[in-house]
Amino acid sequence: MFGNKSLKSALVVSMLTLAGLTLSLQANAACDLVSTKDNSPIKIKASEKDSADAKTFLETCKNPYTAKYAADAEAAKAGKKVLSLNGCTGCHGGNLGGLMAPSLIKNGGTGAFDTKWVYAKNATDKGMFETISAGTPGSSGGVMSVWNQNLEGHVGDGLTNDELLKAIAYIRTQYKGDGEKTWLK
Ligand code: HEC
Repeated sequence: MFGNKSLKSALVVSMLTLAGLTLSLQANAACDLVSTKDNSPIKIKASEKDSADAKTFLETCKNPYTAKYAADAEAAKAGKKVLSLNGCTGCHGGNLGGLMAPSLIKNGGTGAFDTKWVYAKNATDKGMFETISAGTPGSSGGVMSVWNQNLEGHVGDGLTNDELLKAIAYIRTQYKGDGEKTWLK
């Protein structure tokens, strides 16, 4: 029924289509970030200032530090440092167990947000990056400021994309809640 030739050309055509599809997917690869405050798009373009790991995140929404820190407690100290140097611990507590702001490790207690995320999307690294980068609407009773130094109105010097990703990955290592560790998937 089918000649060898037509079978071959059909194969070539489908292989070419597949290659074209892969190329166009690669060209469009970007992590579409939205603000936790109002769901508006957060526009952060990778620049030469960004580390290779930060660029990977901006393309894929995957935080490379999460797996690295989960496997290497020594490496995770870099994330701990970002949190203490920037005063995060002043509000969230020295051990991130909550102080005048919600616990980030969800280790139980009596506060409404000691065992669950104020914003459910913070169970993903993309969601938490959005929350810390561009601030929050105040569902827990207090608000978080804008921290990403690529965005207008950020606190002081702000944090680089790389510092933000390190802080998030460290928070993950400290998580003590019972919930699924979505970020390791
Ligand atoms: C001035 C106090 C303050 C500082 C400093 C602060 N935060 Fe927050 N943070 C808050 C409050 C209040 C909330 C709850 C926000 C809301 O309900 O909208 C919050 C929420 C969060 C959340 C989401 C928690 C959840 O359960 O969903 C994360 C993650 C977070 N902060 C990380 C950080 C990091 C990282 C830093 C340092 C770069 C930082 N915060 C600095 C007050 C602070």
